[in-house]
Amino acid sequence: MKFSVKATQIEKQSKTCLIVGIHEAGQFTESAKIIDKATQGHLRNALKQGTFQGKIGQLLPLFHLPGSLFDCVCLVGAGPMDKLTPAQFRQMVTLTFKTLSATSIQKASCYFTELKVEGKSLAWKVKHCVEAASEGVYCFDLFKTQKNSQNSLRDIILHVADPKQVKMAETALKQGLAIAQGVILTKNMANLPSNVCTPTFLAAQAKALAKDYTAISTNILGEKEMQKLGMGAILGVSQGSAEEAKLICMTYKGTKTPKAPIALIGKGVTFDSGGNSLKSPDSMVGMKYDMCGAATVLGVMKAAAELKLPLHLVGIIPAVENMPGGTAYKPEDILTSLSGQTIEVISTDAEGRLILADALTYCTRYKPSAVIDIATLTGAVVIALGHHATGLMTNHDPLAKALLHAGTESHDRAWQLPLWEEYQEQIKSPFADMANTGGRAAGTITAACFLSRFANHLNWAHLDVAGTAAMMAGTSERMATGRPVPLLMQYLIDQAASKQ
Ligand code: BES
Ligand code: MN
Ligand code: ZN
Repeated sequence: MKFSVKATQIEKQSKTCLIVGIHEAGQFTESAKIIDKATQGHLRNALKQGTFQGKIGQLLPLFHLPGSLFDCVCLVGAGPMDKLTPAQFRQMVTLTFKTLSATSIQKASCYFTELKVEGKSLAWKVKHCVEAASEGVYCFDLFKTQKNSQNSLRDIILHVADPKQVKMAETALKQGLAIAQGVILTKNMANLPSNVCTPTFLAAQAKALAKDYTAISTNILGEKEMQKLGMGAILGVSQGSAEEAKLICMTYKGTKTPKAPIALIGKGVTFDSGGNSLKSPDSMVGMKYDMCGAATVLGVMKAAAELKLPLHLVGIIPAVENMPGGTAYKPEDILTSLSGQTIEVISTDAEGRLILADALTYCTRYKPSAVIDIATLTGAVVIALGHHATGLMTNHDPLAKALLHAGTESHDRAWQLPLWEEYQEQIKSPFADMANTGGRAAGTITAACFLSRFANHLNWAHLDVAGTAAMMAGTSERMATGRPVPLLMQYLIDQAASKQ
């Protein structure tokens, strides 16, 4: 799908499908008025039939319009005039492109940017049009013998009203395209089953990115190297698996001027069985997605490289498989982490924090200005925030502010939970420096408390994406979302802008 921005003249659009928003109560946008006039009142007539009321979620395709050059007009419900929310705008776009991708339409001119969205600029609308359209046509059928991806959409023009806006809209378009590409990579990696997507496979993907983009370099540490360094926490989690653990280290250098990098650390548990603290069969389904943090790091690296962001980034992915068995680590085992701190394992199912602990310590060697870890860390965050907000915890308030703002702007939102010292009590161990679980109360926060002990000298934020990175409800509705790639990309775009 190729996107471009143009200040088009509607009447001159030939051999294309016009996509036009229609408000409730038959209120016409500028483009609808022009189309209606050019087709001798065809739109008004079509609406008179009353089946399409302009409600969000409604679509009405019209073919064979009298006296026009275009092939078809797709009317899309835009709800009551002046009341369109950002979420509804995205929903409209996604639905439209999902529907069009199931037709043989190849060319479309989209007039959604003329709709008023509460508090949002033209640039926002262009960027989100691209992202939401890409969401609508996304399909993961790699393992289906009957492919259902027959999306024939090739050429999408996003209309802007004023030729003077084209340049600005093109910048927004570029950002949207780069983010959409990152999101697709993240979804594709996450949706792979764990018999394909192993730690070694993730390492190969990181290497492939370094091949594709000269600004990216990838270095992989195997178990031998990790042993030498003393990464007892990662190795402890991995020791029950037949798959070798990998520590994937990526750098992105988008500028020649030396700068402290921003580090992203992604939890890469390619399958989380729970280990010897075995999960129940029902809660094990969905655990191929326990590497969504890792997939996010790969997606962000790609999007940043596509956009040529003038920043330095570090991406660290501790990649392991968490399995039970005779060689696996056990409850009450004590691990010595890379930091030297000892950890008593209470649950082998609280493995994410263990691998992140060593990755946090390891990343200090890059002297990062900020560190953000992304992890499907706790079931508790799903109970607290559901599937709409990512849990955010941090030891550095300016970082919280920047990430929350980026979340709102990208509509990939996060919500902050407290990291007060009082919660630290819950992870005391009588035998080691700390325990790896803190009981049922505030499970998301005590997991972050654990991580905070490895982030002492860092400006660090933790994103718990267990509820947002993938939909796991029911076995037939599982799918990766690509979150929080849009949030992180917005944060990085903001950082790049503020540092210039
Ligand atoms: N990967 C899971 C968290 C998870 C749960 C992600 C549900 C997505 C959906 C994590 O490793 C885990 O098992 N966490 C435990 C922690 C507990 C043992 C302290 C949990 O949340 O139950
Ligand atoms: Mn687990
Ligand atoms: Zn896990």
